[in-house]
Amino acid sequence: MQQPAINIYDTPEIASATLAGVMANLIRANNAENKPTVLGLATGSTPLALYRELIRLHEEGNLSFRKVVTFNLDEYIGLERGHPESYWTFMWDNLFSKIDILEANVNIPDGTLAPDDVEEYCETYERKILQAGGLDLQVLGIGRTGHIGFNEPGSVKDSPTRLVVLNEVTREDAAPTFGGSNNVPREAITMGCGTILRARKISLLAFGKKKAGIVRAAIHGEISDQVPASYLQKAPHTTFYLDREAASEL
Ligand code: F6R
Repeated sequence: MQQPAINIYDTPEIASATLAGVMANLIRANNAENKPTVLGLATGSTPLALYRELIRLHEEGNLSFRKVVTFNLDEYIGLERGHPESYWTFMWDNLFSKIDILEANVNIPDGTLAPDDVEEYCETYERKILQAGGLDLQVLGIGRTGHIGFNEPGSVKDSPTRLVVLNEVTREDAAPTFGGSNNVPREAITMGCGTILRARKISLLAFGKKKAGIVRAAIHGEISDQVPASYLQKAPHTTFYLDREAASEL
């Protein structure tokens, strides 16, 4: 059976620039044919160098995002778009405000819905991805719990976009930026594992020593709902972009 590719780089910057190059080639090829490129995007510290490199390529002048459509993985429940820790703010600050993407082509789950409206909203989010032609490339990070998106342990392989309860480890990891774990939302909307696995290409970035154990579990451990990233073992269209530290336990 074909396996995911595992690429190991000397630094996070080199890994990120390599993935940025892959994404730029995809976007340019689609632009040349006047076709949209549909990207699934992640937040967090891991993709920051990737987004810096995409901005640099745009500023160099030969990478336009005007035909790019994006779907973000997740958003915290209870945060307005303008909240400093919302993923809406993160994406506009770190990428979208610095490239020529059209706001109408940006999709980030809405964390401010009334509880009764969430299920229908999530179904609509899935439908919008399909109507856009499906995800050409999904960017992922990995949480210390083995989550992809906010699919925490217990998430089944074909799970759809939905409301989830965040794992306490994930909330602890977010505590510093929220000024304490009490301020971290308890719930989020996340694209499901099924949604992610349907992307035509999956690119998972992981950097640093603190990810080494979970990277090992994801790549060599048992395929189990206890480590949702382990589902990628059966997704040969996945490439892991690791730095030496994150790959140190492989
Ligand atoms: C973010 C997301 C998460 C993060 C993961 C790693 O949209 O869905 O799965 O990718 O928690 O976060 P960092 O990069 O901050 O270590």
